[in-house]
Amino acid sequence: MKKTEYSMKKQSVIAGKAVRFQHKTQEVPFYHTEFDGDVFTLALSEETAPTYLGGTFKTRSDDLFIMTYPKSGTHWVSYISDQIAKKASLQRLEKDLYIGGIPFLDRTPPAELASLSSPRAMYSHLPYRFTPHHPTQLLKYIVVARNPKDVAVSQFNFLKNMKMFDFEGSWDDFLTLFMDGKGFGGSYFDWVLQWWEHQNNDNVLFITYEDLKKDLVKEVGMISHFLNHSLSSTELQEVAAACTFEAMKKNKIGAIEKNKAKTMKKDQSFYRKGIIGDWQNYFSPEQTKAFDDWCELNLKGTGLHFEFS
Ligand code: A3P
Repeated sequence: MKKTEYSMKKQSVIAGKAVRFQHKTQEVPFYHTEFDGDVFTLALSEETAPTYLGGTFKTRSDDLFIMTYPKSGTHWVSYISDQIAKKASLQRLEKDLYIGGIPFLDRTPPAELASLSSPRAMYSHLPYRFTPHHPTQLLKYIVVARNPKDVAVSQFNFLKNMKMFDFEGSWDDFLTLFMDGKGFGGSYFDWVLQWWEHQNNDNVLFITYEDLKKDLVKEVGMISHFLNHSLSSTELQEVAAACTFEAMKKNKIGAIEKNKAKTMKKDQSFYRKGIIGDWQNYFSPEQTKAFDDWCELNLKGTGLHFEFS
């Protein structure tokens, strides 16, 4: 099929490969950044992409990266890490565009990140191959994965509810895109499985949205331990209480919710449902069968399993 350009603000070349910013086509009908044929979020801009896709970000040995495929619990785990840091008396600059004291790497100009004091924490949707790494520094990564059915539903609603994507497609259209590796954030399984391969590394903590949902205090404890903070059980419970869906919604955590009159279509909230299993309200029996087969094919032999309810 011939590619139809609806709109493209700017294109450029990074490491010899084409990058298109604020790009929407007939094949991927929502605004995104496209690099070397892959779909990236709109956060990667002309200002940030050369550094992050070009692999030239200057890391520090005590950097923490919170890595997620979009709609897998980015805000949740970033805010948990932020609340743990506060209990451990770490002082971090807070800005409207950050989640507490934690900036969005993909969107934040490298110079701004360079100006932050250590230890820094950043969240990102970059796939493994573009995540900042260093040959000798033991950088830490918290990787959050969520079952792909709920991710697809959450992404679909996000694309529909956020003004910036200008997405008019149906659920059926979106599910086809998602299974074709053109979800918002690129191929789901490429993203998750590339990280899963590193799940046993000492500097990687691989957690799931479903585990957070089932026992938040326990997961907060694991994150705190991974970050070398020893919080009391009261403190762990206080962090968990501040990080429930209801508390984060009420306190408008994150720039999207804070500015929702501007960012979202009428009456929508970034904090949509926050549950496991909403996919059951979207998938037809045929879609469930096709999706289950697709998951089985991709997960076979990997040892990775998801809970879908
Ligand atoms: P739903 O759309 O299914 O409600 P991200 O931060 O990666 O964009 O993920 C957003 C998803 O996480 C949304 O899912 C949102 O409601 C959910 N979420 C955010 N904070 C949460 C919390 N404290 N508890 C449970 N889910 C949360």
